[in-house]
Formats: sequence, C-alpha cells, structure tokens
Amino acid sequence: MFPKAKVAGPGGGSAKGCVLWFTGLSGAGKSTLAARLSEMVQAREHFVEVLDGDLVRQHLSQGLGFTKEDRDMNVRRIGFVARLLAHNGCCAITAAISPYRCVRDEVRAMVDPARAEFIEVFVNAPLSVVEERDTKGLYKKARAGLIKNFTGVSDPYEVPKNPEVVVHTGDETVEESAAKVLDFLHRRGLLA
Ligand code: PPS
Repeated sequence: MFPKAKVAGPGGGSAKGCVLWFTGLSGAGKSTLAARLSEMVQAREHFVEVLDGDLVRQHLSQGLGFTKEDRDMNVRRIGFVARLLAHNGCCAITAAISPYRCVRDEVRAMVDPARAEFIEVFVNAPLSVVEERDTKGLYKKARAGLIKNFTGVSDPYEVPKNPEVVVHTGDETVEESAAKVLDFLHRRGLLA
C-alpha cells in the first residue's frame, strides 16, 4: 500500500519549492529525520512529500540492487521525481544513502534554481555508532560476508564536500537535528 500523500491544505505553501536531500550511512537516521521534518513542514502549511529509500526500492526502483550502476540509477530516479515535486512548489524530502558524490551533484544540477532550491543534508553518524546500533542487523551480516557491497563496510560512502546542512545524529536528538534543518529552511525564506 502507498502511504497517504502529505500535502498542505488549499492556500498553504510558498511559491518556491525545495529538494531536501538527506544522505548518509544506513542506520544514520535519514528516514526518522525525514519523517519528523515532514511533520514540521506540513504543520507550517507547506506542501511536502517524502521519498524514502526503502519505499522507493519497493516501487519506483523495484528490482534494483546495490551495484554502483543500480545505486546510481536509483538515485537518479529519486532525483527526477524530487525535481518534479520541487519545481511545483513542494518540499521534496529524500532519504537514500546516495553514496556517490558525483551522482548527488548530478541531481543537484537537475534542479532549476529559479524554481526550487537543492539542499544537501549530510546525516553524519560515524560508522562505529551506526554499526553499534545496527537496528536492522545488516552490519553484522555484512561483516560476516552475508551481504556484499554494504555501504561503509565493503562499499564506499563519499562524504559530502559542501553540504548546506550537517546534522550529527550520533550526538543530537531527532528534535535537535530536525530543528537545525528547519532553521535553515526559515533562513532561506522557504517556509512561512
Ligand atoms: S542507495 O545506495 O542510495 O541506492 O541505497 P538506498 O536506496 O538508500 O537503500 C539503502 C537501504 O537498503 C538496505 N540495504 C543496503 N544498504 C547498503 N548497502 C547494501 N549492500 C544494502 N543492502 C540492503 C539498508 O537497509 C538501507 O537502509 P537504510 O534506510 O539506509 O538504513
């Protein structure tokens, strides 16, 4: 089942949309933060939609794996949809690992600055922290060699060079990290 679209009521929202592009290791908290941000943005009567990595892989990117080619394809698809939403005034929040800098820059370049802003949010949690949490038990499996090409273990993660926002989810609460992003949106005049 598709989750219900989260949209503001009539009259809500400002003219300019944005792509809030969360990137970070598996288990860094991208989905949790995306969901919380979505609530906060919606509460400010702005159109918002979340393109979550796991859900995208069940639908838009069904059948893709975790080779570099498949990840790049996945990220480009997410970027394409996010761009459409943002160009029409929505705050499109994406939450995929998106490990390769070059493809993140490619999706950034797809967004027309006159119509929307691209905001890269580095969800920065050290590997030691996410591995310790191991909420899905995937790091353990990756270390045991049961999952190949696992980001941070046997596959690369390229740290963003100039992200607009960095949140440190190993040290901050979800509310603190979400407040940082929200503050950035306010300062850019993207929220009422
Ligand atoms: S990517 O690289 O952006 O295309 O990845 P994404 O679509 O965000 O999918 C990441 C989630 O898939 C699970 N998973 C893996 N992650 C990394 N590497 C490998 N090999 C892998 N296999 C499965 C994992 O649960 C990720 O979930 P998150 O939500 O990021 O923790």
